Amino acid sequence: MDLKEALKDDLGEEELEHLVKSFEVVGDIAIIEVPDELEHRKNLIGEKLLGLNKHINTVLREVSGRKGEFRTRDYELIAGEKGTETVHKEHGCRFGLDISNVYFSEREAKERQRIVEQVEDGEVIMTMFAGIGPFPIIIAKKKDVEKIYAVELNPEAYEYLEENVSMNKLDDKVLPIQGNVRDVCPEYFGQCDRVIMPLPKGSEEFLDLAMKCLKKEGVINYYSWGEEEELYDEDIEIIEGVAEEEGREVEIVRKRKVLPYAPGKWKVCLDCIVRDKE
Ligand SMILES: C[S@@+](CC[C@H](N)C(=O)[O-])C[C@H]1O[C@@H](n2cnc3c(N)ncnc32)[C@H](O)[C@@H]1O
Repeated sequence: MDLKEALKDDLGEEELEHLVKSFEVVGDIAIIEVPDELEHRKNLIGEKLLGLNKHINTVLREVSGRKGEFRTRDYELIAGEKGTETVHKEHGCRFGLDISNVYFSEREAKERQRIVEQVEDGEVIMTMFAGIGPFPIIIAKKKDVEKIYAVELNPEAYEYLEENVSMNKLDDKVLPIQGNVRDVCPEYFGQCDRVIMPLPKGSEEFLDLAMKCLKKEGVINYYSWGEEEELYDEDIEIIEGVAEEEGREVEIVRKRKVLPYAPGKWKVCLDCIVRDKE
């Protein structure tokens, strides 16, 4: 039974139209958007959601968009146990996190799988903006990589990143580093086969560093936001411009809509091969 079905006897027609049917489940926490029109019904919605899935112990309502450098958001408890810390499972890995002070989205699982499939054994990878570690941990679990560097600025996300690397027994493969990629990356210039850049808001400021981290040839998985009419145009122009400044050639090998972000706006990914100019 879906949420709308579960609420059909409790909400009026108009209320049902405002109901956002989809929700995210992170560990044992369900996260749902409740529009202002349903403010007075939020606890009922939360209770129904609890009843729908025996693995859900907490229901949170999103009360802000993602904000700040750490890309976190605020939540309000609308049903179940108090608590925002949980353990989430994905692709056979376990991730501890506190959803109130780190970034994590289970909706991106498919995208992570897509990147895993691109990685070849033996790669050295720089994961900028690593968060609690989903990209580096899942890649290291599935592929025989040489090393993955995982850089994260938010101290709380970094703490989970470190714990998650150990919990998944990947200490020999993944090196968590706390700090700003601008300060950390110079130590890894010229050493990487791939740089993953999962920060749609502002990745472009770090493209020069990403290109410098690559060996003579390598891959950048670049995330951004695109407007429906010109999804990739601006990013391609930026990537080509930075490549030119860095004395590199760039070939955009794949462009992809990852997830809807806002009406008419998408989170997008561009997979780029970057080479030294002949
Ligand atoms: C959109 S989140 C992605 C997190 C993670 N890769 C994931 O997919 O769940 C971006 C992350 O980059 C971190 N961050 C932002 N600016 C940074 C910087 N200059 N250096 C290192 N990390 C940064 C934020 O704290 C946040 O955890």
